[in-house]
Amino acid sequence: MSFLNSIKKGIILSGGTASRLFPITLGSSKQLLNVYDKPMIYYPLSTLMLAGIRDILLITTPQHKELFENILGDGTQFGIKINYKIQPKPEGLAQAFILGEEFISNEPVALILGDNLYHGKELYQKIDQLNNNADGAIVFGYPVKNPEKYGVPEIATNGQVKSIEEKPLKPKSKYAITGLYFYDNTVLEKAKQLKPSKRGELEITDLNNMYIKEGNLYLQLMSRGMAWFDTGSFDSLFNASSYIKTIQE
Ligand code: DAU
Repeated sequence: MSFLNSIKKGIILSGGTASRLFPITLGSSKQLLNVYDKPMIYYPLSTLMLAGIRDILLITTPQHKELFENILGDGTQFGIKINYKIQPKPEGLAQAFILGEEFISNEPVALILGDNLYHGKELYQKIDQLNNNADGAIVFGYPVKNPEKYGVPEIATNGQVKSIEEKPLKPKSKYAITGLYFYDNTVLEKAKQLKPSKRGELEITDLNNMYIKEGNLYLQLMSRGMAWFDTGSFDSLFNASSYIKTIQE
């Protein structure tokens, strides 16, 4: 069985304060704002479902859990299972694995950020060529104009990732590591070893660098046939809405 096919569980991380979208997010969760005609959360949910994942843990804030439950329920309407977990404070993306330990149990797991929107058929197409082992990690890179705002890979000429830097002043490539990650079960042990960064968060980039050190992180570069939006600002949210409207029409 390929690595992707072996992954049956996924976490959607939908917490945070979304202060860049104040005052709108003072009254709601960012991941429930509309991207054109649907709540943002539908997109990461369908990206996991496209990978064959039907068992989902949605992590959110104490204030927003009920709002997500109103919209998604227990997942029956989509033919999936959704459980909920609260993240009391936004202490980092990698905290998802500590909060999700019981849910993950002894299985591999996917993580997607609730504000990341992927569109296009190619996302999973060549993944089995990339990693047909039963272990490791798979991350996705997308070419951007402002890599310094993201996790950025340094890529060797043979395509191997040498390292990933979080928001580097001098990015070593034009790629952003996007908010979709596939991990084997060692992610649980690795997450527990993390220490908070300078910004006080358990960083997903530190976790990914542990897989790189083991020679076990695979990077799938997305091509122009794919669209990726991190809808965390008013501009990117507007662009995502207008893209979806155009595609649907
Ligand atoms: O979007 C991709 C980028 O996401 C990656 O390139 C970076 O490597 C990764 O660190 C992350 O970058 P940001 O620092 O910009 O992520 P941000 O703090 O904006 O959080 C991303 C989403 O996750 C956001 O919707 C809020 C949510 N979140 C964030 C944190 C820190 C949580 O639910 N809990 C948290 O503890």
